[in-house]
Formats: sequence, C-alpha cells, structure tokens
Amino acid sequence: MTSKTSSQPLFLRAQGVIPGGVNSPVRAFGSVGGTPYFVSHAKGSHIWDTEGNRYIDYVMSYGPLILGHAHPAVVDAVTEAAQGGTSYGAPTEREVLLAEELCEAIPGMEMVRLVSSGTEATMTAVRLARGATGRDIVVKFAGCYHGHADFLLAAGGSGVANQGLSGCDGVPINAVADTIVAPYNEVPELDERVAAVIIEPVAANMGLVAPEPDFLSQLRAACDKAGALLIFDEVITGFRLCRGGAAEWFGVQPDLWCFGKVIGGGLPVGAFGGKRAIMEYLAPLGGVYQAGTLSGNPLATAAGLATLGELDAKAYETLTDITTQLAQTITQTFTEEGIAAVLPQVSSLLGLFFCDTQPKSFAEADGAAQNGLYPPFFHAMLEEGIALAPGPYEILFPSLAHTQEDIAQTADAARQAARSIKATTS
Ligand SMILES: Cc1ncc(COP(=O)(O)O)c(C=O)c1O
Repeated sequence: MTSKTSSQPLFLRAQGVIPGGVNSPVRAFGSVGGTPYFVSHAKGSHIWDTEGNRYIDYVMSYGPLILGHAHPAVVDAVTEAAQGGTSYGAPTEREVLLAEELCEAIPGMEMVRLVSSGTEATMTAVRLARGATGRDIVVKFAGCYHGHADFLLAAGGSGVANQGLSGCDGVPINAVADTIVAPYNEVPELDERVAAVIIEPVAANMGLVAPEPDFLSQLRAACDKAGALLIFDEVITGFRLCRGGAAEWFGVQPDLWCFGKVIGGGLPVGAFGGKRAIMEYLAPLGGVYQAGTLSGNPLATAAGLATLGELDAKAYETLTDITTQLAQTITQTFTEEGIAAVLPQVSSLLGLFFCDTQPKSFAEADGAAQNGLYPPFFHAMLEEGIALAPGPYEILFPSLAHTQEDIAQTADAARQAARSIKATTS
C-alpha cells in the first residue's frame, strides 16, 4: 500500500493542480512552515506517510475518528453498504435508523435532517432560524468556527484564524451585514431583531476554550428573553463530550443542534436538528429550502451507524481516561522541562497553549497561539513520530485506539520537543 513517493515531489505536483497543493487550507502547513506529509494509509492510532514513516496521530481527521483509523466495524459496514450501491437519490432505511439514533441520544432533539458536511448543517440551521423567527440578525462568537458559509466566516477560528484573516475576501459586505460578533464567554445584549445565536458550546477552533460556569445557561436565558433561537454547533462536541453532547454535558438545551464529524465515522456527513415545531418550517413541509444530492448517503450513514454503535458509556469512560492520562503526562513533562504550557481538557477534547493561564476568549487564545512556540514544537514532535495538527488553533483528538504505549511515546517525544524548543529560543 505504501508508494514510497516522497512528500516533496507530491506537494510540488499538487501545487501545480490544486491551489496551495491542498483541498483544505490548514493542511498546507502555512502557519508552521515546511512540506506537508502525504498520507499513504492509517490504522488505529497510527498514520503512515508515503515515505513509509509511521506517526501516532492526534489529528484524527480533525475529530470524526473517535474509534481510531480503519476501525473494523466501520470498514465492514462501509464495504457492505458499497456492495449495495453508493447513492440512490431515494430514501433508505439507514437514514431513518441514524435519525432515530440521533434523536434518541440528544436530549430535547425531536427531528433531524442529514446533510453532507458541518458547513451545510450550520448554514441551514441559521436559514431555518431566520425562517422560523422572521428575523435576520445572527450572533456568533469570535474564535468560533462554523464552517465556511459567507455570513459565518467573520472572526472565525481554525483555518480562518490561521491565515490571519478577520473575514474573507469574496464575501460581500452585505453578506455579513446581519452577522454580529461577540466575545466568547460574555453574554451579548440581544434584542427583537436577533434570529439566532450560534455557538460552539466548547470552543475547539481557537485551541480549546471551555465555557465559563453558567455562561451557556445565561446565554439560553438571554435568547429566551429576546425570542431568539439558540444554536449549538456540535460538529466537534457532538457524541464527543458524551453521547448526549453538550445538552447532556452542561444541562442546557438549545433550539437547534448542528452535527458532523463523529456521526459520519470519517465519511462526509452533517446534520441539523431541533424541536418538531421548528424543524417543520423546512421543505417539503415548510418554506425554508434545503436539499442535497448525497444527503443521507448510504456509505456515510453506514459508517455513522457503525461508529455510534461502538459508543456506549464504557467507551466514553475509556476515552476520557486516555485523554486525562495524555494531558497529565504531557503537563508533567513540560513542568519538569520548565516549559510554560496549559492543556485544557473537556471530556476527550484536549487543547495545548504555550502560556501560563488558560485562555477564556479568542483575544487571549490568539495571544498564546501567536507567541511562536507552536511551530517549532509541532516540527519537533513530527520528527519524533507524533502528528499534531499543523496550526496552533487546532486541538488534539485522542481516540479509543490510542494506547498506554502511545501516551508514553508521546510524553517522551514532548520531552525531546521541549528541549529542542528551549535550545532554539534561549
Ligand atoms: C465547530 C465546527 N462547525 C462546523 C465545521 C464545518 O464542518 P465541515 O468542515 O464538515 O464543513 C467545523 C469544521 O471543522 C467545526 O469544527
């Protein structure tokens, strides 16, 4: 399976035919420098590049692979589904099964529609909120990333922050005229013009920034007072914090939910859902239009169902243990090596900031991300066989496939990386 084609010539060829050589900007290593490794294959907690080097992977496709790479249940389900055809343009039983499983797991969610990406989910959830309320304004929080719909790109985290963009060329002023950006962890003033407030209940695209205690419940109350809908973008947190996502974890229910990543087990999926009364504004029942040639795709729903089938209470306990051990060993290593770092953790989401105190907003997270320590750390870790995301605004995604041995190796690598950062910065 390994082609032994080195990444450098592949990247050169890619740059000839793909803008920046990549199909999603953060993959280009722009903010850490160097040439991206091209992946040949992956299994469990490991990926291999096209030169045959093996890495312990904490990118995990940015979140979907909670079971690890090429989990047998997912591979078998997708293989079986593919043998029955890859897309029909007509409903299937698996779509019903996945929708039922989502509604059963998420407290308060009564109906859900499947789409093909997180971007589609957030974009349509906001359209639905606007359609249901008859209002236009949408409030988002600085540093939260909700995919790349025009009106949600303002002050985005992840790749948008990575590129140093406050917005995006090609987005007309009118497209963001009804978008208001508020600081994370501060409840904004809302009035009767606000259709929806959209938030990552745990911000995971500016490093990891947890909501302050009561922030989400106060936001819920502010939305209720103004008659605005609250949208939880759970593309990362859904089925990751726990089976019921943020509504279960924090005890706060939004009006609309957005999902992606884990619910597709590594295949292209998104979903948005909510109370029946709101979801019925959606076509064909109501006047809010949304559609998709590949929505509810047979392979994607098979992968999603297989993934969710593995996620019982024990799995979440194991995953949290793995993450806690990883956080503790790296923290201890940094302390011993005299490196100032904080590793915020919420369930199995793990952040890494090179600073003394945990950031609570994008302004604070950005300060830590921009201090220049992440790129040398990233490269030193890669050299030691550990693949982290190539950007300081991303987080680590430990999976159920990560082992004690992986954690020990990661801590050893972090020690070497810490020493090499100290050597280059002192
Ligand atoms: C919180 C959040 N929302 C939405 C998206 C967009 O999802 P997709 O990349 O599937 O369009 C992402 C992607 O990383 C995300 O992290």
